[in-house]
Amino acid sequence: MIRITGTGSAVPARRVTNDDLGKIVDTSDEWIRSRTGIESRYLAVEETTTGLSAEAAKKALAAAGVSAEELDLIIAATVTPDRFLPNLSCEIQRELGAKNAVAFDLNAACSGFLFSLDTAYMYLRTGRYRKALIIGAETLSKIIDWTDRSTCVLFGDGAGAAVLENVPEETGCADRASGAAAGNGAGESRGILSIRMGSDGGRGMVLSCDNRPVSNPYVKRESGLSYVSMDGQEVYKFAVRTVPHIIGLAVEEAGLAVEEIDLFLLHQANIRIIEAVAKRLRQPMEKFPVNLRDCGNISAASVPILLDNVRKHDMIKKGSKIVLAGFGAGLTWGATVLEW
Ligand code: ACO
Repeated sequence: MIRITGTGSAVPARRVTNDDLGKIVDTSDEWIRSRTGIESRYLAVEETTTGLSAEAAKKALAAAGVSAEELDLIIAATVTPDRFLPNLSCEIQRELGAKNAVAFDLNAACSGFLFSLDTAYMYLRTGRYRKALIIGAETLSKIIDWTDRSTCVLFGDGAGAAVLENVPEETGCADRASGAAAGNGAGESRGILSIRMGSDGGRGMVLSCDNRPVSNPYVKRESGLSYVSMDGQEVYKFAVRTVPHIIGLAVEEAGLAVEEIDLFLLHQANIRIIEAVAKRLRQPMEKFPVNLRDCGNISAASVPILLDNVRKHDMIKKGSKIVLAGFGAGLTWGATVLEW
């Protein structure tokens, strides 16, 4: 059985309210709040993607009762690593001292945590590895155009992490102090029940940010900085159609009905998207916790931070049935159903 045994999260110290942004661009708290549900976000000043990731990872390892040396695998999902080289996951490995782990990065934008979970799940499922650390981490503030009011109000910085373990069914984790710390109890939980993923590169340019152009002795191009650009209405339409569909597929594959799901933890892009998904699934908003009011949209970090938040607020009990769902640039999307 493959299950999440610990979670952790970290956000920068600097909290920036909508009113603060009103001093930088022509916007207002009323506009941002009514269109997105966002009230504040945390922006890195001294913090880095690596530092936030390591902080979140240490908390997740402590909650799971797993040492860094026990990790076989680290997957970091990000679109904003600190460097091209080395990759974020190796930097996290160094910070943790996880010397026995294989480490690599994965870019699937706001779905990155779901893609990492799917990848780690497969490695654990085959028996190749037993303990994995998956991280979603971003310092999006460095790829935002702070003169563009249509995008700069949406995003924030932070990191979330989860430890994934292949736990022998007969053992469970009933007598593990770590299980209690992580909110896990006896071994009846079935862990991850289903995962469904999807991608559509054909619609990719609705949400994009360019890298450096090719420039070498044979071609000279200006390499100015590029920032996130978005067709907000197309992203909205994509999300409200695709997310209920992929959740429906994952829930069906898990052998459950949507009504049996206790919590839906969705990528925190926009409250209107979350409300539309709830309506399409005919489920009450009480089942859809949100942290975007406080944190804004943190791309790959948003789902694991929310998972850590709800765990800390005791909203998850042993046996709770939870959907995690991500969607974003690529386009990419994914959903998993798990029993806690
Ligand atoms: N403050 C004040 N006015 C603004 C702001 C702002 N921050 N941003 C845009 N406006 C103005 C525009 O200039 C425009 O003015 P105009 O009519 O005078 O030209 C007006 O508001 C409407 O602009 P739209 O872009 O059409 O605004 P829209 O109603 O579509 O709302 C939003 C934008 C909130 C982004 C919406 O499209 C949306 O919810 N999209 C979903 C996508 C999303 O949430 N993306 C998040 C990142 S992607 C992801 O995580 C998957």
